[in-house]
Amino acid sequence: MRRLFTAVEDGLAQVEARLATELRVTDALADATSRYLYEAGGKRVRPMLTILTAQLGEGVTPHVIAGATALEMTHLGSLYHDDVMDASDVRRGVPSAHVVWGNNVAILAGDLLFSRASQLMAQIGERAIRLQADTFERLVLGQMHETVGAQPADDPVEFYLSVLADKTGSLISAAAQAGVLFSDAPAEYERPVLEFGERIGVAFQLLDDVIDLSADPGETGKVPGTDLRAGVPTMPYLLLDRSSDPASVALKDAIDDGVARIADGADPAILDDGLAQLREHPATAETRRLAVEWSAEAVAALEPLPEGAVRDALTRFAQVVVDRSS
Ligand code: IPE
Ligand code: IPE
Ligand code: MG
Ligand code: MG
Repeated sequence: MRRLFTAVEDGLAQVEARLATELRVTDALADATSRYLYEAGGKRVRPMLTILTAQLGEGVTPHVIAGATALEMTHLGSLYHDDVMDASDVRRGVPSAHVVWGNNVAILAGDLLFSRASQLMAQIGERAIRLQADTFERLVLGQMHETVGAQPADDPVEFYLSVLADKTGSLISAAAQAGVLFSDAPAEYERPVLEFGERIGVAFQLLDDVIDLSADPGETGKVPGTDLRAGVPTMPYLLLDRSSDPASVALKDAIDDGVARIADGADPAILDDGLAQLREHPATAETRRLAVEWSAEAVAALEPLPEGAVRDALTRFAQVVVDRSS
């Protein structure tokens, strides 16, 4: 376990150094904007997963570092775009890129990161390019489906879970898969880690919905309730919608009314009380329970892996994802 810990620490330091060089752009504005969110921090969950699963093969090879870096850059780029789409003004504890430079520059900075990520994947080879393209397609479709919303024939909760798998599970799954692919690990490990990543991605995002209602922006680096205030449904809201008792119906109506008024220009603070009530509602506890369930299913996917430090660490990873508060 100690050897594994050292390998992960060393691998993460290499990814960090590689990010710093890959994000360098000659144009001064492009350079400042593309480094901005990277320098603001982040948990580096995806590179950690890649480095962990790479221990099933030859460990932190140059291709593993390149792949982990490229996927983190893809994640980074998606955050620039996501904050524009969600009208979210704080990210990683700093003003979002669109607040600093406007929507156009924020969108272009995200695009630049995607181009750079593709260039890096191309250095690894054809398999890496395909992984990048397939992952990015799913991520985009997830964001697209979230934007368009569930159609009348869709079950809203099932639809939402598929959105989470696509927008977040895709990239986390690819990160887990990259470690196996680029460390020359046995091919039969690819499917278990891929499924692990997919499920842990859903668990991760479900907990993100709980965190979105958290009262402490100092801890989360985000403004609480951003998604809901912008009218983006999250799991606690969807589960609230399934509750038929009068208090729940009244709370849902109050939130809908607040969202409509905010869209018409009202102060987003009018929803403070409604969001505080939703945080204490059983729908939020149920969301947390669902996250724990998805995390347990992620661990179950690891069954075909050999017992040992790597499998233990992935299991621990799955537990931490649903215990986190930021
Ligand atoms: C934020 O991801 C976007 C989601 C998919 C929930 P993270 O929570 O991994 O963000 P950082 O990288 O730590 O900022
Ligand atoms: C972000 O999802 C997913 C992607 C960037 C692909 P969210 O919009 O739910 O995440 P946060 O809360 O802004 O980090
Ligand atoms: Mg968002
Ligand atoms: Mg979003």
